Amino acid sequence: MKKWIGIYSLVCLMAGCSKPAMQPAMGLKTTLNEQHRPQFHFTPPQKWMNDPNGMVYYKDEYHLFYQYYPDSTVWGPMHWGHAISKDLMHWEHLPIALYPDKNGLIFSGSVVIDEQNTSGFQKGIEKPLVALFTYHDLKGEKAGKNDFQTQGIAYSLDKGRTWTKYADNPVIQNPHLRDFRDPKVIWHEASKQWIMTLAVGNYVVFYASKNLKNWAQVGEFGQKEGAHDVVTGGVWECPDLFPLKMEGENTEKWVLIVSIGNGAPNGGSGTQYFIGQFDGKTFKNDAKPSEIHWLDYGRDNYAGVTWYGAPNQRRIFLGWMSNWQYAMKVPTQNWRSAMTLPRELVLKNTPKGTRLFQKPVAEQRLLKGSKTTIKKQSIITNNVLNIDNPCNELNLNFDLNQTNATELGLMLSNSKGEKVLIGYEKTTNRFFIDRTESGKVDFEPHFAGRHYAPRSSVNPILKMNIHMDVSAAELFADDGETVMTDVFFPNEDFKTTTLFSKNGAAQLIEGTFWQLK
Ligand code: FRU
Repeated sequence: MKKWIGIYSLVCLMAGCSKPAMQPAMGLKTTLNEQHRPQFHFTPPQKWMNDPNGMVYYKDEYHLFYQYYPDSTVWGPMHWGHAISKDLMHWEHLPIALYPDKNGLIFSGSVVIDEQNTSGFQKGIEKPLVALFTYHDLKGEKAGKNDFQTQGIAYSLDKGRTWTKYADNPVIQNPHLRDFRDPKVIWHEASKQWIMTLAVGNYVVFYASKNLKNWAQVGEFGQKEGAHDVVTGGVWECPDLFPLKMEGENTEKWVLIVSIGNGAPNGGSGTQYFIGQFDGKTFKNDAKPSEIHWLDYGRDNYAGVTWYGAPNQRRIFLGWMSNWQYAMKVPTQNWRSAMTLPRELVLKNTPKGTRLFQKPVAEQRLLKGSKTTIKKQSIITNNVLNIDNPCNELNLNFDLNQTNATELGLMLSNSKGEKVLIGYEKTTNRFFIDRTESGKVDFEPHFAGRHYAPRSSVNPILKMNIHMDVSAAELFADDGETVMTDVFFPNEDFKTTTLFSKNGAAQLIEGTFWQLK
């Protein structure tokens, strides 16, 4: 059942939804000393947040909008929260950008820079920033209709500070499809038009437009490709389509990212990607239709998309660090959920074919304290490292040829005996994050557990780059070829960091760590 059914009845009458609700003040600082609050991952100042929306880079500012319900810590009538950053690491909260209106709640979508004023919205020197989002009409849904999701637009002529909804909204009516949402728009230079990718049930459709106002469907993709959830009918959501250069080559391919509401490899919601070609109308997958590529094998990376217009052709991704299976139950007090680290995406050739690699953006160096070397060592069972901080980055390189342990990795723990393991199982050739005994786990029966990612690289040197932030860990293994993101909620912060091995010795050949500010 859709997550929004039932919640609406509790929290929203349409009239109430359209009133400006509690407003995070301009420049408001997030309280960082709350239990479980990540320190260097983006979190809302307070209350509920889900998908990142409308990410755009304009005039030296990265904008991040997000699905926001300012009146509660559970999902409710959606607004677009807003924050800006110059370096993707330090964020300033701005007032809510979009409120629900007579057409409905403001679901996920994107923002583009209308450089050539195709929309005609421009008045002064600033280029129009145009937001394209889904309207979710509650009344229609409650009346049992199936056309309650439409697409609307709004524009800003002052660098994203204030927004005006377009008078003739919605710009795309619903063709009687219950799930019809999350427009992600790009300028397609080859065909000189705007292309919108929209999630429709369990596939995506492409619309084209010359002016961001009049749209016509030109193609579709995915009914029989990639991951589909036939058991619970989890739908496709939050697509993103963009060209990306092959590393070290002068060629590019198109990448299509699609989140799926249920059916991820470790359960619940997750994100897959396709690599192929886009001709302005439709997407052609390079892989076999049955092949599935998961962007992140952890439990907590959903609805992620990339920035529009990032400088130097960088493709920067950000995901919502949660899972619909338990997002509304996680044990935080005044706010709920965080975003992943912003990650730079690159395409690389591997013996298995072209793959999407991810690494945290280089700007993360701004948070780093001094570098500490972890000496080369054999780990027989447990080697405790001299780290007493819940926020750090570690690089660990193991030589598998000199390792006969069945398992190796890193353990984060506290004095209550709670722990998270981030490691590699040599016997099954899989990475894992194990949060079975990580503290507060029983708020949802599926939360505890060990989550796996098959290792793709065949390099005998196994590299783990781990970013740990109070209640979240991101593992970028083998230079970002395999990625896992998991959240956890220890009763006391994890301040002990230990290298471990099981049933034999593991050989660490290189290691470093940085405390992150
Ligand atoms: C994904 C999603 C989107 C929708 C939004 C509503 O998490 O379900 O499909 O637009 O959340 O908040």
